[in-house]
Amino acid sequence: MKFFLDTAERDEIQRMTELGFVDGVTTNPSLLKKAGAPYQQVLQEICALVSGPVSAEVVAEDHAGMIAEGRELAAIAENVVIKVPMGSEGLRAVRGLREHGIDCNVTLVFSTNQAILAAKAGARFVSPFIGRLDDVAQEGMQLIEEIVQIYENYEFESELIVASVRHPMHVVDAGLLGADIVTMPTRVLEAMFQHPLTDIGKEKFLAAWRDVPKA
Ligand code: E4P
Repeated sequence: MKFFLDTAERDEIQRMTELGFVDGVTTNPSLLKKAGAPYQQVLQEICALVSGPVSAEVVAEDHAGMIAEGRELAAIAENVVIKVPMGSEGLRAVRGLREHGIDCNVTLVFSTNQAILAAKAGARFVSPFIGRLDDVAQEGMQLIEEIVQIYENYEFESELIVASVRHPMHVVDAGLLGADIVTMPTRVLEAMFQHPLTDIGKEKFLAAWRDVPKA
C-alpha cells in the first residue's frame, strides 16, 4: 500500500519524507494556487524532495493542448507524471503522451466506467475522487470496490489512486479493498499516528519511570 501526499506545500512534503512515508505526491491547480509561488519552481522543488511520481495537472481543454502542456511539465523533472482530466480529449491525450514515453494519471474519475476507459487508454494511474462522492451522498468506497475487482478480473496494469481523501477511515477502507495507492492531505497522514490510548500509555510509563530506582 503506497502513500502519496496530496499537497504542494514543500515544508509538509519534506517533513513527511524525512519520516519515510511519502511514496509520491499529487498536485492540482487548487493546491498549486495555495503554494503561492511560480508553479514550475514549486514542482521542481517537490520533485527534488521526492523520488517517487509527482503528478502535475494540465489545464488545456483539447488533446493537442494537453499533450503540449504535458510535454512541458514532463521536462521539469524525470519523476513528473501528467495529470489529465477524465474525458474523451483527456484519454486521447493519455495515448498521445504515452507515445512520447510520458506517464499519465487520469483525474476527476467518478464512475466505474470512467475507470475502465482510463485503464484501457493506458493510464499509469487512475484517480477516483471518493470524498467528493461522499459529499453528494454517494458511497465513494463502493466505486473503489468495483474498480479493484474489474482491474483484477482483466489484469489491467493501471494503478488505482484513492483520491479526495478526507479522513483516516478512508485509508483503512482503501486498504481493506486492496487499493494500490492512497493520496491524502498531510493532516490525514498525521492523524494516522494518533490514538488517545497511546498518549495516556506514554504518560503512565513516563510517570512510572520517574519512580524506578536508578543506580
Ligand atoms: C487528487 O489527485 C486530487 O488532488 C485530490 O485528491 C482532490 O481532493 P479534494 O476533493 O479534497 O479537492
